[in-house]
Amino acid sequence: MGTLDNDLFLRALLRLPTERTPVWIMRQAGRYLREYKATRTRAGDFMSLCKTPELACEVTLQPLDRFNLDAAILFSDILTVPDAMGMELRFTEGEGPLFDKPVRCRADIEALNIPDPEDELGYVMDAVRTIRTALDGRVPLIGFSGSPWTLATYAVEGGSTRDFNRIKSMIFDCPDDAHRLLSLLADVVVDYLNGQVAAGAQALMVFDTWGGVLSPRDYSEFSLSYMNKIVANVTREAEGRRVPIILFTKNGGQWLEAMADSGCDALGIDWTTSLSEARRRVGDRVALQGNMDPAILLSSPDRVRQEVKAVLESYGSGPGHVFNLGHGIHQSADPENVAVLVDAVREFSESAARATSRGLTAPGPLVDAVR
Ligand code: CP3
Repeated sequence: MGTLDNDLFLRALLRLPTERTPVWIMRQAGRYLREYKATRTRAGDFMSLCKTPELACEVTLQPLDRFNLDAAILFSDILTVPDAMGMELRFTEGEGPLFDKPVRCRADIEALNIPDPEDELGYVMDAVRTIRTALDGRVPLIGFSGSPWTLATYAVEGGSTRDFNRIKSMIFDCPDDAHRLLSLLADVVVDYLNGQVAAGAQALMVFDTWGGVLSPRDYSEFSLSYMNKIVANVTREAEGRRVPIILFTKNGGQWLEAMADSGCDALGIDWTTSLSEARRRVGDRVALQGNMDPAILLSSPDRVRQEVKAVLESYGSGPGHVFNLGHGIHQSADPENVAVLVDAVREFSESAARATSRGLTAPGPLVDAVR
């Protein structure tokens, strides 16, 4: 395990100075790329792609070969964890994920398997090792997991949902069952993330896609408390370097201070919260990752450049920003616009860093036009 050619992403997450703003894109390997669709066809289906380390490695590298990205993210899915716990995951065309054995009562929870990362989830650890070898120090590799709350929504609902009725019934009517499930999931996620770090992941991200559907009190009790447990128990150093951990609650803008209290290194921010406001609220406690609206990629290259500039200006000068979208890229996004985005981040942030180092601009975030 050698040195890194480009460690901008890791330095920015630790709020260390960088010569430009690093950039990667959530779901950067996916259906908006024709080469991804070709590899998925070769694999047969999505889960076979996840379960074949050589093919997972191939699609992980595809966006890096096209765009000047500063990080790779393990190609996998958050739902590998409930699958390994025995819920039998299937992806059906057009319908998204489905579990043949959802968790509906205490007996279902007690019957769950506690997977060993190197056994039931060994294909993920093999993918991490294969990708690290193939990257050969080009950029750092991000490992990830779903948050216990977000995994529980899929496990209890049996798939995607609009209303979250089943999981909400569980937290309101049988909170002890919900806590039992969430604490099992938190333990499994800690082992899973630590397995990924042992296999070579150099940063971690926890996706709490559905924390934002909870009331503030329920968010604290059923989502954030379990993410706190994860932050407190994951490996924070490997290969002589800090392993930064990023927490991302979609629609969690109102809870940033509480999330920063977890002790994580960085927060993912969606586009409904401005970076300047987020920065004002969390101060120098954590780095920020985000937050361009993914739908901007459906508009013109000029509009993309304009928005990249606005996002960079909203963060302002000084260290601690990783450029990203505020959520995953849409499958109808034009790859040409992704190239425009990545190049614009480089161009605008390099010139801003040069100007700041020559003392040409006043440091500090610009005030957003709209609040
Ligand atoms: O960022 C990356 O490039 C890494 C890969 C990655 C995938 N899923 C690949 C994927 C990551 C980090 C995820 C996380 C994930 N998966 C989340 C959290 C992040 C988020 O977007 O909120 C969630 C909620 C899931 C669950 C999931 N996986 C759903 C609901 C679906 C179906 C969506 C759909 O449009 O069909 C998936 C499938 C999935 N995961 C795809 C990809 C590239 C598309 C599957 C395909 O190729 O057919």
